[in-house]
Amino acid sequence: MSSFNFDSLWSEKSTDADRLITLHAKYDFAVAYPPFEEVPMYGLIDGLKSKVDANLEKVAKEMAYYPHVQGDESLREFTANKIASDRGIKTDKDSLVLCNGSGEANGLIIQALCDPGDYVITEQFVYMGTTKQLSYYNVNTIGSPMDDQGLIPEKFEETINKIKNDHGVLPKMLYTIPEHQNPTGSTLPKSRRLQIIDICHKYGIPILEDDCYVDNRFEGEAEPAFASLDDSGMVIYVGSFSKLIAPGLRLGFFTASNEVIDRALSVKVGSGPNQFAAYAIDGYLRSNLEQQKSNYDKILKEKKESMEKGLEEAFAGTKASWSSPLGGCYTWFEMTDGTNLAEVRDEVFDRGVGYIAGDMFAPNGDGQNMARLCFAFEPIEKNYEGIIELGSIFKDLNVI
Ligand SMILES: Cc1ncc(COP(=O)(O)O)c(C=O)c1O
Repeated sequence: MSSFNFDSLWSEKSTDADRLITLHAKYDFAVAYPPFEEVPMYGLIDGLKSKVDANLEKVAKEMAYYPHVQGDESLREFTANKIASDRGIKTDKDSLVLCNGSGEANGLIIQALCDPGDYVITEQFVYMGTTKQLSYYNVNTIGSPMDDQGLIPEKFEETINKIKNDHGVLPKMLYTIPEHQNPTGSTLPKSRRLQIIDICHKYGIPILEDDCYVDNRFEGEAEPAFASLDDSGMVIYVGSFSKLIAPGLRLGFFTASNEVIDRALSVKVGSGPNQFAAYAIDGYLRSNLEQQKSNYDKILKEKKESMEKGLEEAFAGTKASWSSPLGGCYTWFEMTDGTNLAEVRDEVFDRGVGYIAGDMFAPNGDGQNMARLCFAFEPIEKNYEGIIELGSIFKDLNVI
């Protein structure tokens, strides 16, 4: 039988994209994964078992049903209490929606608010999972200037006015990652958050706050969440269990006003997220939240310090600089203007060190002289070794 021909049948949206096979370099600083050594596999299994042992009939019945569209009630209650106590956000289980990762939460909000051709402002360098979703829905993403503390409020207002002047519309929302930002590692101070809230009220622009790295702080105190600084319902707050525990769980969440939740759920296809994973997380975190945070925080700090030691040795006497985040997973590496880390990326990868060049995170297309280095995944000593290796490859390629 000859093979069936789909050529005239493809939808406009589908493309010939390659399958996403993630290739890993020997020293993989390109990833966005938490410390694999500490993933609490037995803790999660025990957590799941504790839920089953507590009420087998209830659990078996819930497993036989499709999950509630907002996800498991007990995990929603736990999560609402968690962000009320550690982020000061007034919410409850009915105002919380569990999703298939925070990526789904971001996607639902984008769909609830944005039409093709709309504008969304983000940080100048920003997580590409969200910019990919925005472009999938034909939304224009405009990066607003940032420094080592994140968005610059005055520039943010200029960006709003530029969109208004150039296109005759206001942006539909601000998407921001204010805590241990991906990719720069920056954390936005409270004073700037307050200024940005005022600007957003002035123009009627909601904030989508993506706080997925907040649990990964290894030094100092978190800045207050946007969602705790504003009680008008303007802020939509997104979180995740991917960085607190592991992305393989595929569980994240958002909380927002009831009208936003209803709109977001109106574009959601299918039921709530995986019930099995929700039991494991709920059972595990109810007795281990603080332990879990401190296990990750301890190792993340050691890994960051090991990477920094490598950077200080490998790039001493060069014009390279790097951020020193107090949490999260990433260091932002920067060379002088004119250096092109994007151009050499594949060659460096083939020689054993993976990173993501800055332009991949830049809606406005800049950042070739920058790179995101993830310190969270590789073992402590490989963070050091890999950076020493990176320095010698860069020397070889005349990058430094
Ligand atoms: C800022 C940010 N938001 C959302 C996500 C998506 O995470 P998940 O869907 O696993 O919760 C990531 C993943 O790296 C991220 O960095």
